Amino acid sequence: MSGFVEKPEPVQVPGLTHLHTGKVRDLYQNADGDLIMVASDRTSAYDWVLPTEIPDKGRVLTQLSLWWFDQLADLAPHHVISTDVPPGAPADWAGRTLVCSSLTMVPVECVARGYLTGSGLVEYEQSRTVCGLALPEGLVNGSELPAPIFTPATKAAVGDHDENVSYEEVARQVGAETAAQLRQLTLAVYSRARDIARERGLILADTKFEFGFRGDRLTLADEVLTPDSSRFWPADQWQPGRAQPSFDKQFVRDWLTSPAAAWDRTGEQPPPALPQDIVERTRAKYIEAYERLTGHTWS
Ligand SMILES: Nc1ncnc2c1ncn2[C@@H]1O[C@H](COP(=O)(O)OP(=O)(O)O)[C@@H](O)[C@H]1O
Ligand SMILES: [Mg+2]
Repeated sequence: MSGFVEKPEPVQVPGLTHLHTGKVRDLYQNADGDLIMVASDRTSAYDWVLPTEIPDKGRVLTQLSLWWFDQLADLAPHHVISTDVPPGAPADWAGRTLVCSSLTMVPVECVARGYLTGSGLVEYEQSRTVCGLALPEGLVNGSELPAPIFTPATKAAVGDHDENVSYEEVARQVGAETAAQLRQLTLAVYSRARDIARERGLILADTKFEFGFRGDRLTLADEVLTPDSSRFWPADQWQPGRAQPSFDKQFVRDWLTSPAAAWDRTGEQPPPALPQDIVERTRAKYIEAYERLTGHTWS
């Protein structure tokens, strides 16, 4: 089982059309045709959107994404037009809203991996490849790869996991020229971000970007380099050969799988509400990620 424990109703704002309620973000369109992305405080774990929110999470991740777009601006243009809250929208949207130019999205999840884990590890253990790329023997969960790799995936329907595909498959789907640009941009942006994170004591293990066309220009879209779209690991606890502690949701995952939660994640029942101290510690982790990466104090 998976999905929303409680699916929120879209907010009605005059002049905005509701497009989509995502796991974490709500999408609207304004009269100019721009995309309004509102990051909620929802969080997901084990394929469920949990019934408990993490206060300020949407704001923290929106500010982090904006900071990254700035760090990357010389490598890739981005989709953000402004952070203005549309007239008539709830005051709570401040800080969590991005007005973006509506792009023609490329239907490829552009993943870069510098370390082996997750679906990459699963494929590696079967075939010594990731997305068809051959890797050396002897890598384990959390190993650093000889060099970052582009491991694209295609979007699956809601609730399903994305499917890793080969570069050749991407080239067939979007054309050789676009595929080459996606790979080049993804690896360039990952490498820049990995180096910045490393200076701050964080390992950027992998991350996912989405690109769209503004005219004929590939533009960085969606959110970038947040703990929701990336794996950040504390460098001082990195130990290949085991699962690395996740920088953000470790408390949530640990608690949900503990006896205290009394929840069977393989069963039919939705996950229970999170206790207050788990909420607070998780909120503190998101803020720590923001503060460590940006060097700014969260206020
Ligand atoms: N600038 C943009 N123009 C058009 N679509 C975009 C842009 N940026 C992101 N998107 C799309 O918006 C959607 C965001 O949905 P998301 O919040 O990720 O929900 P879900 O949880 O269903 O994936 C994705 O389909 C993404 O491709
Ligand atoms: Mg998404």
